[in-house]
Amino acid sequence: MKSEIDYFLIDKEHLKGNRTFPFQLFVMNPIHKRFTMFLNANRPMSKELEAFLDYLISKGGFLAVLRKQKKTFLKAQEFDESDIPTLKKRELHESEKERIMYVKLKEIYVEKNGQFKFREEFEKAARSDNFEKIIEYARVEILSFSVNRSNTVSFAVDLAKQFLTKDHIVNRIVAVSYFMAKNINILDEDSLADIVCGAYLLHLSNTQVSLSMNRKAHQAFFDSEKTVYQKHPVLAQHLLKRSQLNINDRVRRIISEHHERNGGRGFPLEKAGDAIETFALLVGSVAHLFEYSMGKITGSKQSIRSVIFHIKNRSIMPGLEFDFGDTIYNAITTLIDTETKEETAQAA
Ligand SMILES: [Fe+2]
Repeated sequence: MKSEIDYFLIDKEHLKGNRTFPFQLFVMNPIHKRFTMFLNANRPMSKELEAFLDYLISKGGFLAVLRKQKKTFLKAQEFDESDIPTLKKRELHESEKERIMYVKLKEIYVEKNGQFKFREEFEKAARSDNFEKIIEYARVEILSFSVNRSNTVSFAVDLAKQFLTKDHIVNRIVAVSYFMAKNINILDEDSLADIVCGAYLLHLSNTQVSLSMNRKAHQAFFDSEKTVYQKHPVLAQHLLKRSQLNINDRVRRIISEHHERNGGRGFPLEKAGDAIETFALLVGSVAHLFEYSMGKITGSKQSIRSVIFHIKNRSIMPGLEFDFGDTIYNAITTLIDTETKEETAQAA
């Protein structure tokens, strides 16, 4: 299907009063950016058609020609490219140049390493407890996102550029949330950028909590510490508000609802079902997987494969959560195949 970039716009004067043209003429509706064939090649422009064209232009329409007919147009109308404003080459903005470089980098990466297969890589990463490759490829993809699309997309690109390098828990949550979203067909850049930003800002409030509390397993919290901990999604919101960071509501909801659970037994608001933002469940489930595996919840480490195995089996274990709603539950439990005998024996 053709889009805007397949055409260039011309003024009626560029037709030079001729009646037939060896190229097709289109009219663009500026509201819907839709191009409609107006006059076929080598068909005469009758007086009636011309009057109709004038009417369309008076209503805001634009004349357009297919880019693939550019040479034919220039030759027939005796123009040079520089005579047609929409054909003049404009200087690219620095951020656009940078993006083109990252798109090329992505192509080179794929050429060198083959197509990135997230499930295979996740399997390897979980076995070796090394997520460098997943983090690296998430960075390569995010840096090739469109520039000037929205504040959140630009922010996601900036975050990835600055921070998505080393293998640590925050980057694991960001990169795995990103690819898990793609696995369940969330493919548009706006949504993926929201997930990246939300995943980065989830635990913004850790900066305001004592180091000893940050290092303590959640299950070892005193009641007072538990109360502070359960306020961290709200505190993050407060910090964001004060920072006046320009982020959208969905990112805010990912942060404030990442501990809400489908059945209504999460915190801070005990929201349930559809009242919870799906992306918050998604990022929340990935955060829970890594936090549980790294011992942040119980104090003892457990392999990622084993945690997924137990989430899948809904094992009743201290601090283990699996109430993420069907879509996210299925997405997280199929990150690796835990059906093999070897795995079952290891994890049980
Ligand atoms: Fe959290």
